[in-house]
Amino acid sequence: MTTALVRPELLAEHLTARLETALATHLERAQAWYPHDYVPWGEAKDFAELPFEETQSRLSKEVRASVQLNLLTEDNLPGYHGAISRVMGYTDVWRTWLDRWTAEEGRHGIALRDYLTVTRAVDPAVLEDERMATMSGGFDAGDRDGLRVIAYVSMQELATRVAHRNTGRFSDDPGLDKLLARISTDENLHMVLYRDLFAAALEVDPVAAMQALLTEVVGFAMPGTGIPGFVRRAAVVARAGIYDLHVHREQVLSPLLGYWEIFERDLPPEADAVREQLALVLSEIDRRAAKQRARSA
Ligand SMILES: [Fe+2]
Ligand SMILES: [Fe+2]
Repeated sequence: MTTALVRPELLAEHLTARLETALATHLERAQAWYPHDYVPWGEAKDFAELPFEETQSRLSKEVRASVQLNLLTEDNLPGYHGAISRVMGYTDVWRTWLDRWTAEEGRHGIALRDYLTVTRAVDPAVLEDERMATMSGGFDAGDRDGLRVIAYVSMQELATRVAHRNTGRFSDDPGLDKLLARISTDENLHMVLYRDLFAAALEVDPVAAMQALLTEVVGFAMPGTGIPGFVRRAAVVARAGIYDLHVHREQVLSPLLGYWEIFERDLPPEADAVREQLALVLSEIDRRAAKQRARSA
């Protein structure tokens, strides 16, 4: 197949067909769960009787920074829903998937907010102000096309899974760890769906898919960049080793690139040239990741 000449309609048709299968698999695997089962309501106290103070939290500042960032990202799903539906279309199976995905992420936001509020991990007024600020900023997919969106969200869902999981392990709080493990299981299924779509894109149009992948690996940033205090909090989370460039490389980029067999597959020359650029980008990421770890040590 002269892959560089694939018509966009053909690619879109192929991705939609793959999404139908992937969505069916997702619905089969996804389990219903209920936020109230994961929240220790017995610990709750009325804020009018006992106002919030920072000292009430049993979580470290690193863990609080991480959960707050992750929660605000969950909150902002309507922004991502809007951005992705503008790129992929809001019809048929895309509509079904995007609505379902948004509903699942909404559950994560509900559970995390309740947990943080009941356990007095964060100031609920600050959390609410930040939710308003984050959602009022929405999300702009920029000039991403469908392939770039799929490449980006594959990485982002895995990054979210890893961030939740590592935060739970780091928290020394069995209740939070259990909740974050539950959420991570959902994030894994989201990642699997987008990863499948990107695999389909690689089969149909490897040149365009490799270009999209390269662009998104180079420019990857968590979607929370519009969240108040994002840079400061992300730095705290990175210094703690919960999510830094090394984690991103080892636990997000490597498994995805391995799954897609990026460095093993036969590619047409134009895509192969992109792959060579990707290899250079990865070496540079390795170098920066080692430097970041050395600074944090
Ligand atoms: Fe989520
Ligand atoms: Fe997700």
